[in-house]
Amino acid sequence: MSTDILTQYSGIPEPSLVHHVRAIRDKAFKLFPYPCIGLYSFLAFSIARSPQYPEILRRLKDGEALLDLGCCFGQDLRRLVFDGAPPSSLTGVELEQGFLDLGYELLLDRGRFCVPLIAGDFFGPVPGLREGSFDMVHVAFFFHLFSWDEQVEAVAKALQLLKPKKGSMLFGRQVRVEKAGAIKHPASRSGEMFWHNVKSWTGLIALVSKQVGVEVDCQVVCYEGGNQRSTEAVKMMRFVVVLSQSPA
Ligand SMILES: C[S@@+](CC[C@H](N)C(=O)[O-])C[C@H]1O[C@@H](n2cnc3c(N)ncnc32)[C@H](O)[C@@H]1O
Repeated sequence: MSTDILTQYSGIPEPSLVHHVRAIRDKAFKLFPYPCIGLYSFLAFSIARSPQYPEILRRLKDGEALLDLGCCFGQDLRRLVFDGAPPSSLTGVELEQGFLDLGYELLLDRGRFCVPLIAGDFFGPVPGLREGSFDMVHVAFFFHLFSWDEQVEAVAKALQLLKPKKGSMLFGRQVRVEKAGAIKHPASRSGEMFWHNVKSWTGLIALVSKQVGVEVDCQVVCYEGGNQRSTEAVKMMRFVVVLSQSPA
């Protein structure tokens, strides 16, 4: 858990932290009961744990553009701003306007956090999102919410948002299982989620990048998620998919 943003950026006194965070988490869980919200995963500000984080910050300071897809409260975007990224280089997309609103309540920065946060369904037309306009797309705990076919569609769309040049990057993290496959889950659009192991995920990326017509290098790092509040350790993977060649 990382509380420096909450105390230093948001100015929340330490003794009020637990009450403040729990109140926001409870409101969010009523909007939609994502397990990661129930487990306070948003307090990890997980983008900062990406192995590429120093490079990401440098690239943003050099004027590159980043989209956080499925940004929830926008907590990772706040982390980037707190760590020196120019707000003008950032954009968030999120299905639930309510989560975006709760983000301002959580971080107490309405009126001073000026990153555009777009409410929209990534599977439909999202106003303001243009193909080929981001150097980096961050996607955390998102793809695993969907079926295989939905992931094919979402990954294709995410790759197409990247600028068609060497080094453009899709990265993030998601649940990992030993045996890949579809599971029934109430939090999914179609009733089904496809959870990956490394082989199935790299296979999906190979398939979709071919369909989209880009060459990519896909690296995956496995780790044990775990959470002090959960009885079972959840397995996770971090992935980074880098365009290795500009399309012809
Ligand atoms: C499990 S949460 C993860 C949030 C955040 N990225 C994180 O790592 O904490 C998934 C987020 O994706 C959003 N989401 C789900 N379906 C979406 C869609 N079709 N378009 C945009 N956002 C979506 C949810 O509302 C939720 O905030």
